[in-house]
Amino acid sequence: MPNFFSQPRERIATLPTPLEFMPRLTGLLGGPRIYLKRDDLTGLAFGGNKTRKLEYLLADAMQKGVTHFITEGGVQSNHVRQAAAAARLGGMQAELVLNTTDDDVPLQGNLLVDDLLGAHRHYVPTGPDRKPKMAELAERIKADGGVPYVVVSGGSDAVGALGYVAMILEMNQQLADQGVNPKCVYVANGSAGTQAGMILGVAMFGGGYAIKGFTVVPGSAAEITQDTLVLADQTAKRIGENPVDPALVVCDDTQFGSGYGIPTPAALEAIKLLANEQAILLDPVYSSKAFAGMIADIRAGLYSDGDSIVFVHTGGTPALFAKVDLLKPILTGG
Ligand SMILES: Cc1ncc(COP(=O)(O)O)c(C=O)c1O
Repeated sequence: MPNFFSQPRERIATLPTPLEFMPRLTGLLGGPRIYLKRDDLTGLAFGGNKTRKLEYLLADAMQKGVTHFITEGGVQSNHVRQAAAAARLGGMQAELVLNTTDDDVPLQGNLLVDDLLGAHRHYVPTGPDRKPKMAELAERIKADGGVPYVVVSGGSDAVGALGYVAMILEMNQQLADQGVNPKCVYVANGSAGTQAGMILGVAMFGGGYAIKGFTVVPGSAAEITQDTLVLADQTAKRIGENPVDPALVVCDDTQFGSGYGIPTPAALEAIKLLANEQAILLDPVYSSKAFAGMIADIRAGLYSDGDSIVFVHTGGTPALFAKVDLLKPILTGG
């Protein structure tokens, strides 16, 4: 019978990531004690949440004798950057299928790192063009005698999500060591794998806290809740666990704003606030929107003084360098 602890895993992340109390931010917002789980510090080529998923995906690929690690995303995908790095550690060639309509994409942020890591880039015009392109590449690699491995967007499948089951085990130990009992753990939800893994982790190992995901991709809260639940259950099945209680899956779409990758005023305020108070940088696409959601909950009076909450900082900071124009409203020029 397969179980969680027998799943192959390549130790490519720097773990455990710190669980840190934010004294200045807590004081300023005047509500619950705020902790950050620093998954922006997973270490691999600027880190981020995808490294945890890639520990399981890379191990799976290595067991299969893979030569080419194929994955997909936008040109500034954090997942793609970490996948390119993981492939290197597994001695594989990374093949990246990226969608853009820009004829002259600036080599900046995540894309620059992809290049430095020696990944091959394949541009397609739109998101839906990525899957057929990945299939075409896989066929070509097979015809040349190689062994391709295709990783879905965000690494969010039943293998990748195991990384966040493991994160819950790690964080629960830190919470116990620090004597913290959070009411809620906040996280950004893009392709659902991070939140799905966390929910399964709590179902398996306990914790006593809610998990709230703020969505950053198009789709209603109901649709993304359903996707997250399906992925949590697929992951559970893979390791012989029961389906999770649907009530554990809470997704909120109020921070999405006007589009994927477009920071809202509240997200920009969150970037500025955390940088100024705690010298920690959020990213403009994911963590800043989720952080803004957490601030909104605090300001709405959801918590009282003795409460604690945790924010999972999922990384993505290289995108800051590629989105300077969008950050202009909070740049002081001083
Ligand atoms: C920085 C960052 N935070 C959060 C997420 C969301 O994680 P998931 O796709 O597992 O929902 C991503 C996904 O790309 C990300 O890059």
